[in-house]
Amino acid sequence: MDIIRKLLGHLGKYRSAAIIAPLCTLGAVGMEVLIPYVMALLIDRGISAGDMGQVWLWGSIMMVCAVAALIIDSASAVFGSRASTGLASNLRDALFEKVQTYSFSNIDKFSTAGLVTRMTTDVQNVQNAFQMALIIATRAPISLVASLVMCVVISPSLSTIFFVAMVALSGALVFIMLKTMPLFGRVFERYDDLNASVQENVTAIRVVKAFVREDHEDEKFAHAAGELHDLFVRAESILAFNNPAMGCAIYGCIIAISWFGTHSILAGDITTGQLTSLLGYVFNVLMSLMMLTMIFVMLSMSAASGKRIIEVLEEQPDITSPQNALTKVSDGDIDFDNVSFAYRSGSGEDTLQDIQLHINSGETVGILGGTGSGKSTFVSLISRLYDVDQGSVRVGGHDVREYDTEVLRDAVAVVLQQNTLFSGTILDNLRWGKEDATLEECQAACRAACADEFIDRFPDGYDTMIEQGGTNVSGGQRQRLCIARALLKHPKVLILDDSTSAVDTATDASIQRAFAEQIPDTTKIIISQRVSSFARCNRILVLDAGRVVAFGREKQLLKTCDIYRDVYEAQNKAGSAADFDQLEGVAYDPMSQRNDPAFADELG
Ligand SMILES: Nc1ncnc2c1ncn2[C@@H]1O[C@H](COP(=O)(O)OP(=O)(O)OP(=O)(O)O)[C@@H](O)[C@H]1O
Ligand SMILES: [Mg+2]
Repeated sequence: MDIIRKLLGHLGKYRSAAIIAPLCTLGAVGMEVLIPYVMALLIDRGISAGDMGQVWLWGSIMMVCAVAALIIDSASAVFGSRASTGLASNLRDALFEKVQTYSFSNIDKFSTAGLVTRMTTDVQNVQNAFQMALIIATRAPISLVASLVMCVVISPSLSTIFFVAMVALSGALVFIMLKTMPLFGRVFERYDDLNASVQENVTAIRVVKAFVREDHEDEKFAHAAGELHDLFVRAESILAFNNPAMGCAIYGCIIAISWFGTHSILAGDITTGQLTSLLGYVFNVLMSLMMLTMIFVMLSMSAASGKRIIEVLEEQPDITSPQNALTKVSDGDIDFDNVSFAYRSGSGEDTLQDIQLHINSGETVGILGGTGSGKSTFVSLISRLYDVDQGSVRVGGHDVREYDTEVLRDAVAVVLQQNTLFSGTILDNLRWGKEDATLEECQAACRAACADEFIDRFPDGYDTMIEQGGTNVSGGQRQRLCIARALLKHPKVLILDDSTSAVDTATDASIQRAFAEQIPDTTKIIISQRVSSFARCNRILVLDAGRVVAFGREKQLLKTCDIYRDVYEAQNKAGSAADFDQLEGVAYDPMSQRNDPAFADELG
């Protein structure tokens, strides 16, 4: 009930349509209920009495009723669909707007696939159920009651046949309903699995193909789809008993009423016309009964969807700007004060532990560490993508939680490890960094990020269309565009999370040089698996299992830090023995042991 109230709260300007639709249905049902009654009059006063005038009179009235019923019914369908599609579109808007306020940890909680399902399938379910509810849920009970009343009015004694049939049919329908409802509940759970599988495979289709996992994924999908199929078949085959049950009830009633009815006619209790209309009402009553049970099944199915939608809408974004938030970040000073952090959706263990360090404004810091050592986590705390559990992170001398989040994130530009471009032109994408950036500014940023050389080679230059997810540019090109996009923000702190991994060393070096020359006052934090990326770094931070192993100048680390020395020697040995291309291959081959922390540990 609560869910329905909350969902209907989103009707907005479609509320009137939602009220008009059932009212129209009411009118249409009224007309339909009248028709058999008028028919009785037509037969008794017109046909039986042989009075053509009466036949015309009641015939025309019946016609008017039928046409009116048709028109009002169509109106109710139009208003019903207007209200239900309106509700769906409002819900989608609300969901989308809400998700925009989510922090990373909110998103982790629902998962991207989950959010997509909720915005599409679940909203669709609610829309369908609402449309049914508006039209059929008002029609069925009203038609049921009105037809029953008419029956009793015509012949109380014959109506008893009815009640017997109704009780029997209700029993059968309720039984069917109770059997199918749990099955349908499970159907929807399976839908989730199926959606997750589709989402995962379509977004990662390239990986699936690269690893020649199509057969395996096919099998996985077939399994999920097969289970869904079985459940559906079971639910539907129970549901299929609806029709025979209906048939038995209707034909049983018709036979019984005809039998007893003719006796009544002979005895002079009712007229022929009344018997005919009674048979019409039989059909109405039993039909309404069946519709009612179907609505119950449908509503209970969509209740689950409604709940999932409300969950998203009511989730509290756990990172918000404070009141009287600071609106200016003075400089790129960064302090980590005794910081510990654990992902809420993770294993529960601390991902970062007791981090205590200071980075000066304008300093260039490199971060090195094995996969999963916490590098990305470390930098995500600086722009407050997550909140720390213990201690504090300060930027420009103030706790990040004191800033307006938008101001903070403008000042701290992060090129994420999983960077994305959006569909639109290159220029559109660059202007994500700064909305009103001129073409010259964009070009300058691209020069610094070494993106100009390939953009100029595109026939459409800066107007080249980027496809969804940036699939029509290479990995290295995408990385450089993302760096340019971040540069356009003129940030106080610039963070590159493994953002030059797909760029060759020479280009990497010239990007670093451009940084040093063009944004000397910006604090630069560079995560990389390649020691060559650290050439211009003032200091290097070595992380292992969420702890700081060392933080200092390269020379010093080579003397004191085993992990750093091992990685350095391994990469430089390969470099000295190999020519440029091979060095490249060695440096960022993801399969190479060199990037494996276990390998580093082994050496250490
Ligand atoms: N969103 C998340 N939810 C739960 N756990 C996470 C999340 N992101 C990372 N982790 C976990 O936190 C740990 C540190 O991850 P992090 O991404 O910081 O590593 P990393 O050093 O950046 O690794 P890589 O070099 O592979 O990018 C890992 O064990 C990882 O499983
Ligand atoms: Mg990372």
